[in-house]
Amino acid sequence: KRPAGAPDRKLARPVSKVGVVGAGLMAGQLALLFARRLKVPVVLTDIDQDRVDKGVAYVHAEIEKLLGKKRLSQDAANRTRSLVTGSVSKDVFSDADFVIEAVFEEMSVKKQVFAEVEAVVSPECILATNTSSLSVAEMAADLVHPERVVGFHFFNPVAAMPLLEVVRAPTTDDAVLATAFVLAKGLKKNAVLVQDAPAFVVNRILGRMFGEITAVFDEGTDAATADDALRPMGLPMTPFRLLALVGLPVGQHVQESLHAAFGERFHVSANQRTLIDAGIKGLWVKQEDGTETVPEQTLALME
Ligand code: 3HC
Repeated sequence: KRPAGAPDRKLARPVSKVGVVGAGLMAGQLALLFARRLKVPVVLTDIDQDRVDKGVAYVHAEIEKLLGKKRLSQDAANRTRSLVTGSVSKDVFSDADFVIEAVFEEMSVKKQVFAEVEAVVSPECILATNTSSLSVAEMAADLVHPERVVGFHFFNPVAAMPLLEVVRAPTTDDAVLATAFVLAKGLKKNAVLVQDAPAFVVNRILGRMFGEITAVFDEGTDAATADDALRPMGLPMTPFRLLALVGLPVGQHVQESLHAAFGERFHVSANQRTLIDAGIKGLWVKQEDGTETVPEQTLALME
């Protein structure tokens, strides 16, 4: 059955090579998913060779883990490994049909990346963004072909989360959208069509939860106590465990976008900013015996 709002799949274009801009954690997860599920060459790029090498090494390490868990056959592992390559030059995208960016969550950076990619790809090549909260329309606005841009928003951890938000900007072409839905099916994700609104749907809802719990901390309630109080509520992860998974800076960006759009409904936390500036990755730290505690240093920063 065609997902609500998806154009006829007959409009979809074939995708036989994928590009991923960025070689960070999200980009690595995407490269692995595309190569594993679509079985097409995937090339990832970043600004220096070290980052590229780390991105490819991450993919190789994840393939080893899947092999170890017998989730991947030896043949599939070999094939997936050989399909993923890296480069510092975006020229490798010249014959790509679909390029997705997963770079720093900043509009000017995303716009520059898209302009650079557009300069090397064919006019039909689709440009997708994995942005969590920024306007897809604005990202497309200065391009020669804004109709080729679509939002393709995955959730962490990419391999485990079934949802994919497909974001239609007012300029997005039907053929581009149809291709996005066909790709999503190949990736075994449940794609839903969402409008180009700040933080789309899921992060907008999560933003209310993150905003409230960080407001509680900012007002002086013990962070660990408040977070742990939510453990029996049936959530797969408590808010601060989830924030550590998505990354405190990404969470903060989402919150800032929502605050800019909707004001005080979305609290932007001073404590969270302090933790980010201090390089703290998450509230909870696992001890050797498996229990989790919040280090004194973290608590002191939030006083
Ligand atoms: N990478 C790959 N796979 C992972 C993984 C990871 N980091 N973590 C867990 N998995 C897989 C496991 O391999 C396992 O797969 P299998 O059943 O096929 O073997 C499956 O997920 C379940 O894992 P576990 O049994 O080990 O652990 P849990 O049952 O505790 O589930 C979880 C782990 C799926 C991460 C679960 O805790 C969960 O759903 N958490 C909520 C995650 C969430 O809400 N993510 C969205 C965040 S918002 C976001 O990303 C948007 C962004 O824009 C900010």
